[in-house]
This record gives sequence, structure tokens and C-alpha cells, in this order.
Amino acid sequence: MYTKDHWDNVYATKDFNSVSWYAPHLDKSLQLIEEICPDRAAAIVDIGAGESTLVDDLLLRGYGDLSVLDISATAIEFTKRRVDQLGDKSAHVNWHVGDITQYKFGPKQFDLWHDRAVFHFLTDPAARAAYVNTVRRSVKPGGHVLIATFGPDGPLQCSGLDVVRYDQKKLQQVLGDGFELLGSEITSHLTPMGSNQQFLYCWFRVGR
Ligand SMILES: C[S@@+](CC[C@H](N)C(=O)[O-])C[C@H]1O[C@@H](n2cnc3c(N)ncnc32)[C@H](O)[C@@H]1O
Repeated sequence: MYTKDHWDNVYATKDFNSVSWYAPHLDKSLQLIEEICPDRAAAIVDIGAGESTLVDDLLLRGYGDLSVLDISATAIEFTKRRVDQLGDKSAHVNWHVGDITQYKFGPKQFDLWHDRAVFHFLTDPAARAAYVNTVRRSVKPGGHVLIATFGPDGPLQCSGLDVVRYDQKKLQQVLGDGFELLGSEITSHLTPMGSNQQFLYCWFRVGR
């Protein structure tokens, strides 16, 4: 099954709060975004946002230049409908449907790139290289990249798909030159099924 079909099928058949990656709020992401990028005018993109509430929470915290991308149009439609309920604030969000390994945001560049639980699905080195090229094109020089993957003791699969687990050294190596590691943190995610998944958050500054 193509990646897009896989994810559309997941979002068409499962309740938003029953998937293993569900959390009512992405608290660790929110905390780090506010620390790394306190400027409410910053351009922030959430890669592979799915149906997460991160965009709602950023709007409610006053961020005013948000972009949301996912490969699944089903997920984007669901999230957009929810965000529309926030009224005028929803006008601050640009919606994108596409595969991040091939996507072009056009001339727009971001101050902060956020990815929770997407990069680790790229098991093909060529797809990882394409992702990194997209980051280089899309993030302003001096901007930041915040990526959360499964950690060294995290699961080997998610949503029935193989994943790659990372420690900070391995993630830094895959991103390559031009990404300065500013910090990292191991966290634990409690799934709706009651199990714990180890995540690694790493944040980088993109070279000027
Ligand atoms: C495990 S979910 C995480 C969703 C969200 N980031 C969160 O933390 O709740 C992975 C998400 O990545 C999206 N995705 C997977 N591969 C992708 C790709 N190549 N390009 C864009 N989105 C992708 C899926 O549709 C799904 O919404």
C-alpha cells in the first residue's frame, strides 16, 4: 500500500484519540517551541501533523504564522474543521497536503520546523536525504528544527510500519552538516492503550 493510502486508511477508520501516538496536547512540543521560538510572529510549520492539537494550542498561545502539512488529506480535513471552530484565529493557518520527501513550500521559509513521529518512518536512505533537502530549502538560515523520533529503546514499529530509532548522535549524523545540535531530551509517551513509548526530542539551529 502506498504511504498516502496507508495513512488515509488509518485516519478514515480510527478515532482520533485511539491511535498510539495520540495525546490530548503535545505538551513537550509546546514547551520546547515556546522556549526555542518565543516570538509570536515566527513562521512555524508542523510536519506530519495528523490530527494533533498542536496547531490549536499554538494559535491559543498567540502564534500567528502557522503551516500544517500531512500526507493524509483525511487528517488535514479533520484538523482544519476543528481549527475552524476557533474562529478568526484559524485564518493564521496555511494547510498543505503532500509527502514531505517531495514537497515544495514555494518561496516561504520557516523560523521553526516541528516534526513529532514522522521522520522515523523514513526507512529508505534516499527518502531521508530528500527530507533533509526539504528542511534545508524550507528553514531560514539561523532558524530551528525540532524533531521527535522514537528513542533508542522505543518501539520498532508504529501503525504497522517499520521505523528507525534514534539517539542524538545518529539523528545529527543523518541530518548532516549545517545542523547545530542545541539540545535533546528523552521522554516517555503514554499511549491510549496504556503502554509507554520512548521518544527522543532533538533541536537544532540551521546554519547561516
Ligand atoms: C505517528 S503520526 C504523528 C502525528 C502527529 N505528528 C502527532 O504527533 O500526533 C505520523 C503522521 O505523519 C504523517 N506522514 C507519514 N509519512 C509522511 C510523509 N512522507 N509526508 C508527510 N506526512 C507523513 C502521517 O499521515 C501521520 O499523520
